[in-house]
Amino acid sequence: MVKEVIEKLKEIKYPNLDKNIVEVKAVESVFKEGDKIVVKLNVANSNALPLIEKEIKKRIKGVEVRVRKPITYGSTQNPNNRAPYAKHILAVTSGKGGVGKSTVSTNLAIALAQRGYKVGLLDADVYGPDIPRMVGVEGERLRWGENNKIIPSENFGIKIMSVGLTTPTPDTPLVWRSSVAVSALIQFLEDVDWGELDFLVIDMPPGTGDVQLTMAQELPLTAGVLVTTPQKVALDDVSRAVMMFKDIGVPIGGVIENMSYFIAPDTKKKYEIFGSGGGELLAKHYQIPFLGKIPLEMQIRELSDQGKPPVALGGYKELYQQIVGKLLKEIKVSA
Ligand SMILES: Nc1ncnc2c1ncn2[C@@H]1O[C@H](COP(=O)(O)OP(=O)(O)OP(=O)(O)O)[C@@H](O)[C@H]1O
Ligand SMILES: [Mg+2]
Repeated sequence: MVKEVIEKLKEIKYPNLDKNIVEVKAVESVFKEGDKIVVKLNVANSNALPLIEKEIKKRIKGVEVRVRKPITYGSTQNPNNRAPYAKHILAVTSGKGGVGKSTVSTNLAIALAQRGYKVGLLDADVYGPDIPRMVGVEGERLRWGENNKIIPSENFGIKIMSVGLTTPTPDTPLVWRSSVAVSALIQFLEDVDWGELDFLVIDMPPGTGDVQLTMAQELPLTAGVLVTTPQKVALDDVSRAVMMFKDIGVPIGGVIENMSYFIAPDTKKKYEIFGSGGGELLAKHYQIPFLGKIPLEMQIRELSDQGKPPVALGGYKELYQQIVGKLLKEIKVSA
């Protein structure tokens, strides 16, 4: 059935071109859904689209035509909802790289799952996808289900998707234009079989660029969660992230100060390596909630590198539950 439909689609010319709509990749996919055949189109030209749709319906009776919405169709004031299956969407961000966004996203997602919520973790850091390694699924590769959707990886009670799972090997570098990166993320939102989710946690790339903006245009973000370290530079950068969220109208769920202090394993003495109180000052300054401090601990790095998130193993469980409790209160989800 699907094959016959594809053959018929090949007879339809793209308006004003000598090529057919399959050749020019205007047909994204053809698949069976229940007892009907669905033709999914990906046509950027808004003049050509209605002509193609009309022609398909005329020539092939009974097929359903669906159209992929063009990217950046939404605005931050009135965003699209590419993830209607998720009740709440959290964007974990920092202005600066290397402050622990991916570590915090992972442990936060698991801490939410430990409360009984259904949680998905989307690695939106397309250029440095660290999530698969941190949750121990880096050896897995994309799998497609029968409904033509991507099956997410699963571990520690959460569903996981990352471009890190699409490359031939986990360390293949990605050299993409930002528009391609953004399309990949949109596909992860629309074409992954997430099921119903209470929370979709998104690990954002560092900074305040295209990906952040697109996510705010294409998703009704429940809240941004900011990660910082106590240093001045990290704080300066996170201020930019605060301003971005305010500009685009995304509520800020709060700030988490990571690598806050170090307790020497031998003497148990507390060292404030990056200074102290920075996160709280920042929160006060911008009048945003302060969610908590996470210590700098060798074990956190070691376990993360081994794909064993500390919270899943019981370490820092209480600390993360306190953070989650505060966050849920801020976003008005009853715990
Ligand atoms: N509290 C902590 N104690 C010890 N090590 C930590 C802690 N938080 C994060 N790390 C380690 O610091 C490194 C950077 O953390 P992570 O990858 O989470 O940061 P990131 O902000 O996501 O970085 P990037 O900007 O590169 O995506 C990792 O090796 C991680 O294991
Ligand atoms: Mg990261």
